[in-house]
Amino acid sequence: MAEKINQPLAPANRHPRSDEESDTLQSKELRRKKRVKLAVYIAAFSVFQTVVILVFALTVMRVRTPKVRLGTVTFKNMTTGNLTSPFFDISFTTQVRVRNTNFGPYKYDSTNVTFTYQGVIVGRASIPKGKAGFRSTKKVSVMVYVNSNVLSSIPSLGSDLNAGVLTLNSHAKLRGKVELIFVLKKEELTEMNCTMNINISTEELRDLNCK
Ligand SMILES: *[C@@H]1O[C@H](CO)[C@@H](O)[C@H](O)[C@H]1NC(C)=O
Ligand SMILES: *[C@@H]1O[C@H](CO)[C@@H](O)[C@H](O)[C@H]1NC(C)=O
Ligand SMILES: *[C@@H]1O[C@H](CO)[C@@H](O)[C@H](O)[C@H]1NC(C)=O
Ligand SMILES: *[C@@H]1O[C@H](CO)[C@@H](O)[C@H](O)[C@H]1NC(C)=O
Ligand SMILES: *[C@@H]1O[C@H](CO)[C@@H](O)[C@H](O)[C@H]1NC(C)=O
Repeated sequence: MAEKINQPLAPANRHPRSDEESDTLQSKELRRKKRVKLAVYIAAFSVFQTVVILVFALTVMRVRTPKVRLGTVTFKNMTTGNLTSPFFDISFTTQVRVRNTNFGPYKYDSTNVTFTYQGVIVGRASIPKGKAGFRSTKKVSVMVYVNSNVLSSIPSLGSDLNAGVLTLNSHAKLRGKVELIFVLKKEELTEMNCTMNINISTEELRDLNCK
């Protein structure tokens, strides 16, 4: 009797054990899967975070040197001589454009723009200190007056006037600071170097190249 009672008990006893075993196996497998999932999530998040930081570093936080160039030139008054009596006396308006592609303003100090003929300064314009905003171009209109008074003996002037084209160079150095996310400041020096060719018979700008 005792054996008869025990016998059905034994398998009954064994059953829960195997159930327990498969339960723990299943939960172990489940936990393992959860851990793997978590690891995958963490890895994916780290990759995502790295990408975000990298993109941020390469775009928003990257400091780009602002560019300066001259804009449209409008001649107001132009008198020029000839081969035997060479001179020029020209006034014009133009714009100095400070292009800032940074994710923050560029604040620059006042400076002078010089105009030269064959390396000799023939005129200048002053640029007051200012600011080119967040990814924008600051345009400063200037009135420029250039004349050949200081050019006592530049032989090419007569032939240039005779050929009908006067070439002037313009140069400026801008010193300032780029400000990123309101706190990070970086000094940025930028230079303008433009060459303009003036057609003196039509009193028009033939071309303007800035580097
Ligand atoms: C143009 O320049 C000449 C020579 O400098 C001057 O005599 C004349 O008054 C100027 N004209 C104008 C409109 O500014
Ligand atoms: C050059 O200009 C001067 C002064 O205006 C004039 O006397 C002379 O005849 C001109 N010469 C030529 C070749 O046009
Ligand atoms: C600009 O030129 C003027 C006249 O030559 C000079 O007094 C001034 O100091 C210059 N300004 C700068 C910022 O270089
Ligand atoms: C000045 O411009 C006129 C009109 O476009 C042209 O006929 C002439 O060749 C130009 N002169 C020079 C030296 O380029
Ligand atoms: C400006 O550019 C011209 C032409 O490339 C060059 O000859 C000159 O040296 C440059 N000047 C400066 C001050 O960079």
